[in-house]
Amino acid sequence: MEKIFVYDVTLRDGEQAPGFKMNSDQKYEIAKALADMKVDGIEAGFAASSPGDFNSVRRIAKDVQGPVIASLARCMPGDIKAAGEALAPAIARGQGRIHTFIATSDIHVQNKLRKSREAIIRMAVDGVTYAKSFTPDVEFSCEDFGRSDIGYTIDVVRNVIQAGATTINLPDTVGYRYPTEIEEMVRQVIQGVGIPGIVYSMHAHNDLGMASVNTLYAIRGGARQVEVTINGIGERAGNCALEEVMAGINERPEFFNATSGVYCTSIIPVSRLVSRVTGKYPQLNKAITGGNAFRHSSGIHQDGMLKDSRTYGWIDPERYGTKSESPLTARSGKNQVQTSLAQKEIKFDESKMAEIMTRYKTLADQVDDVFDDILVMAVRGHESVPEYYKLVSYRASIDEQGGQATIEVEVDGARKTVTGHGNGMISATENAFNTVTGMNLDIADYRSVSIEQGGTARGMETILAKNNGFVVRGIGIDEDTVRGAAKAYLDASNKMKYVIENR
Ligand code: KIV
Ligand code: ZN
Repeated sequence: MEKIFVYDVTLRDGEQAPGFKMNSDQKYEIAKALADMKVDGIEAGFAASSPGDFNSVRRIAKDVQGPVIASLARCMPGDIKAAGEALAPAIARGQGRIHTFIATSDIHVQNKLRKSREAIIRMAVDGVTYAKSFTPDVEFSCEDFGRSDIGYTIDVVRNVIQAGATTINLPDTVGYRYPTEIEEMVRQVIQGVGIPGIVYSMHAHNDLGMASVNTLYAIRGGARQVEVTINGIGERAGNCALEEVMAGINERPEFFNATSGVYCTSIIPVSRLVSRVTGKYPQLNKAITGGNAFRHSSGIHQDGMLKDSRTYGWIDPERYGTKSESPLTARSGKNQVQTSLAQKEIKFDESKMAEIMTRYKTLADQVDDVFDDILVMAVRGHESVPEYYKLVSYRASIDEQGGQATIEVEVDGARKTVTGHGNGMISATENAFNTVTGMNLDIADYRSVSIEQGGTARGMETILAKNNGFVVRGIGIDEDTVRGAAKAYLDASNKMKYVIENR
């Protein structure tokens, strides 16, 4: 098996995409997580691009040990100097890399750089030579390799290797190529250059949705470094997703004859970290890290999974740091509903499963997701959840000491007024409700979305509340987010009490 050098560019190519800006602390936190996950290289930034990025590369170069730490730099003295200076602590440990690049496609050479092919070779050689004066570890990229002439690329690559480049990156910068083309092009460059001891690398963009598969096929063509980002974040349609390449070589090793040192069980936790930091979660159906990647929803699939997980779940999610789930939906069948009832120890009469299923389908059809209140209603034949708690009045405020919320609630015909405290108004509200209900709901998720447009638009607050192994979703709609949250807690409290009393 060939060991692949996994070079993560989340903090550079990923971060440069609109909406993914990260500050120095956030980049540092992610760099630490990537190092713990045992990637081989981290492109920490583009030191010359701003003082903030310089400092961020410097901080990571100083404190994040394990992987090679790199900075991007154009083949320009100022860029290379900034990279060399920012990387100094990593270079001193023998772990600092300057990644310098220049475009090699005629479109870029003639129309963007307005230079001759010969001038580009001179700039590339000068850039690599200067980078070598800072560090022995120099990577050179032929930007827009995907649309570059192979013969000319080979010429450029030979020259930069003679100048000292040790890694040659071949980016499909605009995501133009298809997998078998990439495999062949990488092979042609490696054979055409014919110099041993060089690591060839693939850096793919996702404009045609091919980034991961192109990277995997580049491995077949001889690439031994892959440039990847967590969740595939990056310019335009993004970069090659680390998780997809890792899963590709893990799940079908015979097809790629490749392996890596990455701790794949950290992939989903690190993906969630990047999402939390950037506020951008991958699309639900994204391979490996999407929220639905290991969730089975249709009745036929859930039934198959219960009988043998290899039917629909051939990829073991635990290898990537998560578990598979079969959430109840309106499509779920008898086998899954019955299994869920048994798992949750909700009492039911097995001989009445047909009736339970009829009621279940009617109730489940009315909601987006099914939670335990629906399950209990289907078993008990109820059509709605009683209003155990009625919100009579609500007040919340915040000052330097934190948040406070006072709720007046009607319970069993009597009124109770309780004040809760917390870091903010929403946590204060949560405390007030927990005191009134005595249930201590554990909030597993909280979301706030606008459901209308304009200044008086109403928002929808949803909370996922857990208690004693049961899960319900509370929903609150209001013009005010905090009052909406209070309504969501009220809804969740009523549903949870119903579940607990009727299970
Ligand atoms: O996509 C690209 O070509 C790049 C290079 C700078 C490596 O990101
Ligand atoms: Zn790129």
